[in-house]
Amino acid sequence: MSAKLKVGIVGGTGMVGQRFVDLLNGHPWFEVTAISASANSAGKTYEESVQGRWKLTAPIPEGVKHIVVQDASQVEAFASQVDFIFCAVDMKKNEIQALEEAYAKTGTPVVSNNSAHRWTADVPMVIPEINPGHLEVIEAQRKRLGTSTGFIAVKPNCSIQSYVPALHALREFGPTQVVASTYQAISGAGKNFTDWPDMLDNVIPYIGGEEEKSEQEPLRIWGSVENNQIVKASAPLITTQCIRVPVTDGHLATVFVNFENKPSKEQILERWLQFKGRPQELALPSAPKQFITYFEEENRPQTKLDRDIERGMGVSTGRLREDSMYDYKFVGLSHNTLRGAAGGAVLIAELLKAEGYIQPK
Ligand SMILES: NC(=O)c1ccc[n+]([C@@H]2O[C@H](COP(=O)([O-])OP(=O)(O)OC[C@H]3O[C@@H](n4cnc5c(N)ncnc54)[C@H](OP(=O)(O)O)[C@@H]3O)[C@@H](O)[C@H]2O)c1
Repeated sequence: MSAKLKVGIVGGTGMVGQRFVDLLNGHPWFEVTAISASANSAGKTYEESVQGRWKLTAPIPEGVKHIVVQDASQVEAFASQVDFIFCAVDMKKNEIQALEEAYAKTGTPVVSNNSAHRWTADVPMVIPEINPGHLEVIEAQRKRLGTSTGFIAVKPNCSIQSYVPALHALREFGPTQVVASTYQAISGAGKNFTDWPDMLDNVIPYIGGEEEKSEQEPLRIWGSVENNQIVKASAPLITTQCIRVPVTDGHLATVFVNFENKPSKEQILERWLQFKGRPQELALPSAPKQFITYFEEENRPQTKLDRDIERGMGVSTGRLREDSMYDYKFVGLSHNTLRGAAGGAVLIAELLKAEGYIQPK
């Protein structure tokens, strides 16, 4: 068997970084060999740097405990130790853009959880089951950055996985209007109940910037490649409300949708059941076997019971019924830090490796 690719995690001490560390523990293709974060963490072992702020129930993997955390701003030195990086940092947008481009220019592929490059025209923003074809803009991006091997690929906002896959499976019927309200877990803000006691017994009807992302990013995912750039789709029209609710993990969405050609309920259920994408065809290690699972029970999917479906990489739907104002309404659910964050990025990296974009240096 060939050696595993060496992976660096930039922002490895944060909430998403910890998920990367956990998900990559025992990964068949990738091995975490280097971790970086802010200058505050640099020089400490990984175990020391996350002491008192390890957010997962699984313990810190033995293999990373003694890795000495590096300063993420030492780009050349860090990049020289790895084949590619995952990036999940809490910094200003322009700083993240510059940092990710600096890594890419060293010839290092960057798979990012950050939103900074989601609208850069030659950076693919990918849900691997939906728009793997957008990877073709990488060649143009490499030319712009002056590298033959480095590039940036990003994953979209965590909220949209709760309704976009279900709508995507119905694209042949031409969705024209979508109303989605998302009920989002506190881990989406990098928090748990210890960090954010005000969320106990509470709902906050505002998540900064989230509604714009939830309305616009699906159109980029459904966009086309024209002249080596992604051009966003013009339909459907999407409006959203994004609400923070007192759950640890899992974003749930209630969705209303109109179609150009209204499908039957049976057609919708059949399309959801049958939907497969490139990750399933390639049998990528993190790909869910069943991407969309429909629950017949009228009180499902539930966040607590169903967010971990397919190891947190599947999405679930339920309560599909005709509506008095729209053609249909339904409920969707996805795990925000697995499918919606680190897991989604690991799946993108697996796709990039399988398609030849990430190779050993
Ligand atoms: N939480 C989610 O569900 C979620 C979902 C999708 C996307 N995201 C995105 O992922 C990114 C990280 O989110 P998070 O929730 O993991 O944040 P977080 O828990 O606050 O972690 C932030 C990470 O960034 C590092 N960092 C901060 N300032 C830095 C600097 N100047 N240079 C280098 N590293 C620096 C931190 O290092 P220290 O430990 O040394 O401070 C830490 O590793 C954000 O862009 C966020 O929008 C989060």
